[in-house]
Parts: sequence; C-alpha cells; structure tokens
Amino acid sequence: MIKVGVIGLGAIGQRLIRGFQEHPEMEIAAVCDSLQTRAKETAAELGGIPSYVDHQEMLEKTELDLVYVAVPPKFHHAVASDVLTKGIHILCEKPLANSVEEAESLLKQAQDAGVVHAMNFPLNYSAGSKTFEKLIKENSVGKLRRVQLKMHFPQWPRPWQQNAWVASKEQGGYVLEVGVHFIQQLQKIFGSVTVKDVQVQFPEDPQASENAILAILELSDGTPVLIDGMSQIAGKEEIAFTAYGDEGTLSLLNWGQLVGGKLGEEILPLNTDESLTDSLVDNLVKAIKGEEATIINFAAGYEAQVILEQLRKG
Ligand SMILES: NC(=O)c1ccc[n+]([C@@H]2O[C@H](COP(=O)([O-])OP(=O)(O)OC[C@H]3O[C@@H](n4cnc5c(N)ncnc54)[C@H](O)[C@@H]3O)[C@@H](O)[C@H]2O)c1
Repeated sequence: MIKVGVIGLGAIGQRLIRGFQEHPEMEIAAVCDSLQTRAKETAAELGGIPSYVDHQEMLEKTELDLVYVAVPPKFHHAVASDVLTKGIHILCEKPLANSVEEAESLLKQAQDAGVVHAMNFPLNYSAGSKTFEKLIKENSVGKLRRVQLKMHFPQWPRPWQQNAWVASKEQGGYVLEVGVHFIQQLQKIFGSVTVKDVQVQFPEDPQASENAILAILELSDGTPVLIDGMSQIAGKEEIAFTAYGDEGTLSLLNWGQLVGGKLGEEILPLNTDESLTDSLVDNLVKAIKGEEATIINFAAGYEAQVILEQLRKG
C-alpha cells in the first residue's frame, strides 16, 4: 500500500482525497490542516486516522510514501521543501510556487531528492483537452495562425471558491488560478513560448487581484498567442482555448467541451475521445512503482511559472 499524507484540506484537497481513497493501492495515512477543526473532521471521516495542524509534525511522526500539498500558493514552497527534505514522493498543487525563484529552488530540490515530483494539472488527464491535443497534432486546423486564451468571469473569485487568498494580488487572481493550466497546455502542445506584451489592470483596492489582462505571447515559430482576460463583467463565465489555423478553428470551451469547424463552415460541437480519459492517481501509483507513467513534473511546473510571473506582474 502507498501511504499518502495530505496537507491542506480545503476545496481541492478534499476533491483529491476521494481519488486516493478509490485507488486499491493507496491508503490515506494522515492529514494536516492549519485549521484544527478541519483537520480533525477530515481525519474522522477517513476512519480516525491521525490529524495534524503542523505539517512538520506530520512528516516527523508518520511514515509516508507520498505527500499531496494542497495549501494556498504562497505556502507551496515552504511546505513542499520540507516534504522533499524528507525524501518523500510529492504531488504539488499548481502553480508550483509563488515566484520564479521559489519554483526554481523546488525543482532543483526535487531533482536532487530523486523522488517522483508531480503537479496537479488535471487537463492532462481529461478527454476534452487530450482530444484537443490529438486533433492539433493531427493537423486538423492546418497551419497554425493564432492561439487564443479567453478567460471571462462575471465575478472573481467564482462563487464556489470564495476565499481571501484567491481574491488577492499576492497569491490569487485568475491569471494564476486558471491561466496557469492553459500556460502549461500551451507549452505542452505548442512548445516554448515567450511573452511579448502585457497589460494588466487592477481594481482600486491595492490588495486585490487583476480585473483585466491583455497579453501577446509568441510561439517559437512566431505564431502569436493572445490572452484576453476580464472579470466583473456581464454575462456568463467563458474560458476558451482556441487554435486558429489556415484550414479551420478548434476550441476547448469551459475546460471540457470541444467545438470546431473547417473554413467556410459553422463552429459546431465535436465529439471528445473518451478513451483518452486518464487518471492522475493511477499514474502516480505507476510512477511510484517505477513504471512508465504520465506525470507533469516540477520541470513543467517551473516552465509554466516563468511565463505566469511575467503575466501577473504586467
Ligand atoms: N488543480 C486544480 O484544478 C486546482 C483547483 C483549485 C485550486 N487549486 C490549487 O490548490 C491549492 C489550494 O486551493 P483551495 O481552493 O483548496 O484553497 P482553500 O483555501 O480552500 O484550502 C486551503 C487549505 O489549506 C489550509 N492551509 C493553509 N496554510 C496551511 C499550512 N501552512 N499548513 C497546513 N494547512 C494549511 C487552509 O486552512 C485550507 O483548509 C492552491 O494552490 C490552488 O491554486 C488547484
């Protein structure tokens, strides 16, 4: 059995706990949250396993094979670094850290530790985004003319993720929280990218995260990438990752829905290839057992952070 420790039991920590529980080769051995009531409640739900408010104490007292770090971004570096010091396999939430320097130091530490170092970028395991990638690789849009990421939110933070950190400039905002998923996809599918021009707007509150971004990036062959983000606007949430080619258009809408069309045609829904659906937890188990696995590692987390920080700073 792979013994898992979870640090950070908020919205996302709880979500992945279910994934660990469902895997026959995994066992959640301990949980930790700085909110004691949350740590105790989760431990009780998991059958009375040990709970901690201090992650160092958990790392000292429990024998663990894998630790999942799901605390807010500004704590990723300190917590993940302590996990790596113990030489334990690690799954870290995105973004890898809260600055390029922190991300670089975690990458180096992870490589030196010789452990499995994985990031939770779920798009790499879901049918919609994997079908998008497959269609791009099959040249379904022809020669690429532009990639575009649209992130429009009527309200930020979103109603389901109301917390102070995600609303803050210090460690939140949608460029960090949502944009980084697509920066990673952009780099994985289309290769390296450089930032050419960024305009970020912030509300009056100096602590608050951005309410608009307009950025131009460039792929290595010169293809432009346009990022168009807005919040506090009318209408519905819309997240669209679109490839425009000289033969057609393909979009991944709202994380999972594919639409597209050839030149001269309408944009219509497309089928996703459900057989491409994969599981992060299954792949973690394989990687820990030394088998071939799809892992988005800290190197990919670092590459995404380099672009993210240029966009956030404006
Ligand atoms: N991969 C995804 O799709 C996805 C989706 C949402 C959030 N996230 C990421 O997951 C992380 C957590 O987000 P969330 O929405 O669950 O946040 P959250 O605020 O709901 O939960 C964070 C939890 O961590 C606890 N915590 C804070 N500092 C701690 C510390 N030092 N030690 C132990 N516990 C601590 C808090 O008490 C809280 O319970 C963030 O990095 C976020 O970017 C990823």
